[in-house]
Amino acid sequence: MNEMVIFIQSPPGLSEVVLNEWTDKAALLQISYQVLKFEQSGIEIQTDQASLAMILPYLKTPNRVLIRLEHFKARDFPKLFSKTKKMNWLKWMADVPEKIRVTSSQSRLIHSDRIEETVRDAIAQYFRAQPPKKVLQQKWSEAPSELFVRLLDDEVLFSIDAAGERLGVRGYRNHVGPASMRENLAAACLSAFLQNETLKGPFTLADPMMGAGTILLEASEWNRPNLGRLYYFIHWNSISATSVDLATNELMLIGSDLNPKMIETTKLNIANLKTQKREWKIILEDFLKSNTQLPDVQWVLSNAPYGERLEVQEGFFKNMIPALKRKYPNARIALLMPSDKWNLTKSKNQKIVDFKNSGLEVSLREIMT
Ligand SMILES: C[S@@+](CC[C@H](N)C(=O)[O-])C[C@H]1O[C@@H](n2cnc3c(N)ncnc32)[C@H](O)[C@@H]1O
Repeated sequence: MNEMVIFIQSPPGLSEVVLNEWTDKAALLQISYQVLKFEQSGIEIQTDQASLAMILPYLKTPNRVLIRLEHFKARDFPKLFSKTKKMNWLKWMADVPEKIRVTSSQSRLIHSDRIEETVRDAIAQYFRAQPPKKVLQQKWSEAPSELFVRLLDDEVLFSIDAAGERLGVRGYRNHVGPASMRENLAAACLSAFLQNETLKGPFTLADPMMGAGTILLEASEWNRPNLGRLYYFIHWNSISATSVDLATNELMLIGSDLNPKMIETTKLNIANLKTQKREWKIILEDFLKSNTQLPDVQWVLSNAPYGERLEVQEGFFKNMIPALKRKYPNARIALLMPSDKWNLTKSKNQKIVDFKNSGLEVSLREIMT
């Protein structure tokens, strides 16, 4: 069965949302797994190679999925060297990785540059002693060139990234705005607000301050595998990625922004989707000045400008919520804003989830009537 341990790395504050997504999608794909550990930084799971290959392109909220290679105790450099040299590196790569990322805490070996150098030398010696055959060199020529080494309480743990790079990189959002959010954070906001059952559709969702359209694009693709990029683990194992939709949902996605550049940007991103297109309405408008109501919209989710990278008009935070309630009279409305800006809205609201966006404390809250 090729059992393996993986670590689903979560954005800070969002590990519960990440676990919910895993649980829901694993059930739909009927894969078997066992949760070993739940931590603030992520979830350790035991599963098998085929299951990981199946679920990987469907996971939208994690930062990364790491494959745990091996772990052992090492309190000095000679031990680190000899143990590292004995690992079965050919199973994962054909050369010393380009990048080695070291973190160390509560351990005798603490100097990260020296740890990296020792690991690098040990792997180089391993490959000198058993040079990989041509076919393996070819197989690993596209392997991720990044190795993660973590030391905690003198326990050394090696991992590699199953996807090769951040999972947030989708391949379709090639155009961004000045304050665009990471795709996996947008997906996490959607999952936390609409809940995974609702995301199976049908539903109508609006983002009145859509920027590059990130939230709407994530809603469009939530139940679909991402076909816009390579996932190395699938590629190495010559497994063909499953490309079924987990729900055949009908969606209406309505995006607007007052900046004409953002309208073009979103349209370009939508055109990049490799999957069947949804029903979209993209509108140039300042929602504060709009007189048209959209009574059919059920959900409104938006990432308001923070007044930092993007300036806002006088009284923006106070006027925003009455304007949204007028425009979407039947919708449940949630906004993502810096935690300290919420008091400017003078609104009654309920916290959905707090997390960090580019190092800033932000809070996703639902507006209450
Ligand atoms: C924080 S950005 C949204 C980023 C978006 N989530 C993304 O990932 O690209 C806020 C957006 O709100 C737009 N905006 C600001 N005031 C607006 C208004 N009154 N009406 C419509 N759009 C507005 C800005 O042009 C900007 O694109």
